[in-house]
Amino acid sequence: MARILITSAIPYINGIKHLGNLVGSQLPADLFARYMRARGHEVMFICATDEHGTPAELAAAKAGKPVEAYCADMHAVQAELARGFRLSFDHFGRSSSQRNHRLTQHFAGKLDEAGLIAEVSEKQVFSIDDNRFLPDRYITGTCPNCGYDAARGDQCENCTKQLDPTDLINPRSSISGSTNLEVRETKHLFLRQRSLRDKLEAWIDSKTDWPILTTSIAKKWLNDGDGLQDRGITRDLHWGIPVRKGDQPWPGMEGKVFYVWFDAPIEYIAGTAEWADANGLPDAAWERWWRTDKGAQDVTYYQFMGKDNVPFHTLSFPATILGSGEPWKLVDYLKSFNYLNYDGGQFSTSQGRGIFMDMALSILPADYWRWWLLSHAPESSDSEFTWENFQSSVNKDLADVLGNLVSRVTKFATAKFGTTIPAGGSFGPQETALIADLGARIRDYESCMEAMEVRKAAAELRAIWVIGNEYLQSAAPWTVVKTDPDRAQAMVRLSLNLIRIYAILSQPFIPDAAASMMAAMGSDDWTWPSDLPEAMRILQPGQTFSVPENLFRKITDEERTDWQQRFSGIRA
Ligand code: MF3
Ligand code: ZN
Repeated sequence: MARILITSAIPYINGIKHLGNLVGSQLPADLFARYMRARGHEVMFICATDEHGTPAELAAAKAGKPVEAYCADMHAVQAELARGFRLSFDHFGRSSSQRNHRLTQHFAGKLDEAGLIAEVSEKQVFSIDDNRFLPDRYITGTCPNCGYDAARGDQCENCTKQLDPTDLINPRSSISGSTNLEVRETKHLFLRQRSLRDKLEAWIDSKTDWPILTTSIAKKWLNDGDGLQDRGITRDLHWGIPVRKGDQPWPGMEGKVFYVWFDAPIEYIAGTAEWADANGLPDAAWERWWRTDKGAQDVTYYQFMGKDNVPFHTLSFPATILGSGEPWKLVDYLKSFNYLNYDGGQFSTSQGRGIFMDMALSILPADYWRWWLLSHAPESSDSEFTWENFQSSVNKDLADVLGNLVSRVTKFATAKFGTTIPAGGSFGPQETALIADLGARIRDYESCMEAMEVRKAAAELRAIWVIGNEYLQSAAPWTVVKTDPDRAQAMVRLSLNLIRIYAILSQPFIPDAAASMMAAMGSDDWTWPSDLPEAMRILQPGQTFSVPENLFRKITDEERTDWQQRFSGIRA
């Protein structure tokens, strides 16, 4: 049994996430966590809301709420939606927690002790009309790299380049739109990550098994002259983690806070500490996941995120960890995703374009979305959601292939032999062949899941469902029963066992349907079918089963066009 730490990039607090956000981090992380638990490993799966920085302040102002209250409300909303999508976090924390305050201040103190913090008098954009500094997203302008005209002061959404507010061409205030701006001096802390370049490079080079998407982005930022610039880790804002050196004040930095990108990844650690607190456990319980001097040397750590997050997780956060000089766990495997597009364009939070988590659940249960999103995860390239494609995947894969198998078998068995597993007959060559075929397929499925090849894993799972249908089709117990009822009983017994095995295999993708299938088989044995012939005999003659509620319904053409209309517009 291995110990597996999994984190998903923590979603910004400002508003409900769209399905593109979901499939880029939280959902595949959940798939992996569920699979690893199903294999009997000890898993710690952490996510949280990313609550600081200008996006939170701007959204709170727009909602007309104090930022603390806004964040508390939105955390509750996001936590509820995460439950709705069956995201199986061990803890869904908050980057504004006291745990994160203390840890962030601790790291800053350690980095300072290591001589890695510089105090720099910096030029920042000050808005005369707004009477405040305009860090990060408080400023909008044209990207000097690609010419995109709505780039924000921290990063260009279009080309993903990290920016400083003073880099923008034709800058304007995001609050008032004012261009009445001037550059003023203000003192800030800089993390001297440039001096960690060699260490970072050696570490990245040692990760030979990372996906190409991850390493190519990491390498690009490492080698691209300004990719590894020393970065400002403080801001002139009110909302955030006050700048302190461990538990001591930081002279000259009064009234300033840490930059959101400095404290956000530290929340992975703090979130695990929040988990321990929430469960009344001592510090040792979370430290054994994170401190290699306290048990974490046995942990394998996986991170999941969209490609725009990769530079922060391959360079900035590792610089914090390595620079601290303390034995904290570094990521072992970083799985990154491309973007999911929506019906001929981009998902956009700012424009409200696409399907958002709350709207999705209001029209169909989580499994439908989970299946489509995971089976179309944007791994090797960007992928696109279209309603036609969604309808056809749901109707074919879920309703025709899996749902139909379950309903045919259970209904036929009940009609002919009642609601206990029939005892007659024994397995013949057809069953032996099925078990061999299925066994090989399950091994392929396991390899894909272990390699986090999400789309391939979905395709393997679907193939596993198809094999069952093909068996049933060719065995045809409904014909055999007329001449050889004992044989038909053996076929039914095998098919019912197959349903239980499908529940176990499918659970990481479609947990609700899996639970219904298992419950209908009258079992609670989720043991992974490593020994398939044995697993095929778990449901014994005489045990009762039932016909589950229809697992999946089909999406009609009418619904499809209706939804297409409803979600094309701008979200209020
Ligand atoms: N909130 C960021 C985003 O949605 C992700 C932060 S991940 C962390 O892009 F590591 F910084 F926490
Ligand atoms: Zn750009």
